[in-house]
Amino acid sequence: MIRPRPGEDGGGAAEDSRGLGPQGGVGKTTTAVNLAAASARAGRKTLLVDVDPQGSVGTSLGLPDGPGLGAWLLGDADFEDTVRATGRENLDAVAAGTDLLGAEDALREKGRRSG
Ligand SMILES: Nc1ncnc2c1ncn2[C@@H]1O[C@H](COP(=O)(O)OP(=O)(O)O)[C@@H](O)[C@H]1O
Ligand SMILES: [Mg+2]
Repeated sequence: MIRPRPGEDGGGAAEDSRGLGPQGGVGKTTTAVNLAAASARAGRKTLLVDVDPQGSVGTSLGLPDGPGLGAWLLGDADFEDTVRATGRENLDAVAAGTDLLGAEDALREKGRRSG
């Protein structure tokens, strides 16, 4: 996520990709990957975290297999072990992982029980 600069409202896709909403196939992943790559190229240490169970960030960056965000949410992996090098300087990424969908369901269920 890119935070807006002070004085900007952050509503536009250029400042914050959350502004694009949940609709599929509108370029959210492409925007996120490109913003992350641009940030890394500008010399900022950047971590791109895929929170979409579709897992397109992993595919897009050709990330190697391994535990992803879902495994961390389920308590099956340390966060450090989900962070993968992308081969680009300053850019690391956390893939969604195949268990992110299941993790979302498990957390929702947990929230309902404790809620
Ligand atoms: N600016 C663009 N011009 C042309 N094709 C694009 C553009 N942005 C995304 N796409 C293509 O549209 C498709 C969906 O993009 P994606 O970023 O995966 O969408 P989302 O994450 O919103 O589902 C992909 O095949 C992607 O390559
Ligand atoms: Mg996507």
